[in-house]
Amino acid sequence: MKKVFGVLGDPIEHSLSPAMHNAAFSKLGMDCEYHAFRVRQKDLNDAILGAQAMGFGGLNITVPHKEKALEFTNPDSLARRIGAVNTISFNNEIRGHNTDGLGAEMALREAGVGIKSSNVVLAGAGGAARAIAFHFAEKGACITIANRTPEKAEALAKDVGCSHAGMEDLKGLLQDSDILINATSVGMHPYIDSTIASQDILHPDLTVFDIVYNPLQTKLLHQAELAGAKPIGGVAMLVHQGAEAFRIWSGQKPPVEVMRKAVLEGLG
Ligand code: ATR
Repeated sequence: MKKVFGVLGDPIEHSLSPAMHNAAFSKLGMDCEYHAFRVRQKDLNDAILGAQAMGFGGLNITVPHKEKALEFTNPDSLARRIGAVNTISFNNEIRGHNTDGLGAEMALREAGVGIKSSNVVLAGAGGAARAIAFHFAEKGACITIANRTPEKAEALAKDVGCSHAGMEDLKGLLQDSDILINATSVGMHPYIDSTIASQDILHPDLTVFDIVYNPLQTKLLHQAELAGAKPIGGVAMLVHQGAEAFRIWSGQKPPVEVMRKAVLEGLG
């Protein structure tokens, strides 16, 4: 019988996940379908239990439910430490996972950039930064968190066990760094003229990874190009966090390029 999958969020109408996963299912000839469901916070537990009761193959959880979903699953140790779930599998139990950090690692890896022992400046201290920080710390990256609100950088750094700094310290920090990650919403549509760093503080030995994917070419990525740094855009993370969810649910190797093509088509 056909297996159903879904993503729960609010709002959800612009989610690219249905296109990405349906393209993957179709490529591998799997009798599966993926839909987006708008779920209010008060209904989240019922929706997850309902999906389990109806034999869903798995779920993704997106904004604003990733933190709340933790309570309604048995999270794996990474999801528990991050404090958020973006993927649920149903094998005798409601298991919570978080593939966002692995998605970020894979985005770098496919560009030939390893994270073990690398000096990473992570801008941001919200949900995305949190997922990246815990995963990257586990993989042996040396992380400094910089955030507009310094108290949040300090709190996240304490949880992860890494360093923190103010956004005004970026210039000095970047001199000795291998990777800059923008995990803030700076530069996202419609504020496309904003950037956390300009060309003059970037350098050719740096990889600049922007998790923002709308627009595809952010101002930060443009500045990175001008500085001779290696630019990596946010689509890669979006695709790889989905690919890792697909791997958890199906046990199969995800067709990453098919998924990327579907996302790029969805972004127009
Ligand atoms: P997400 O779950 O996508 O990470 P979030 O939790 O709302 O979203 O976090 C947004 C991040 O972008 C935060 O680090 C935020 O900084 P603050 O903690 O100071 O709010 C950062 N951010 C958003 N707008 C920003 C801006 N204009 N300048 C600098 N940082 C900004």
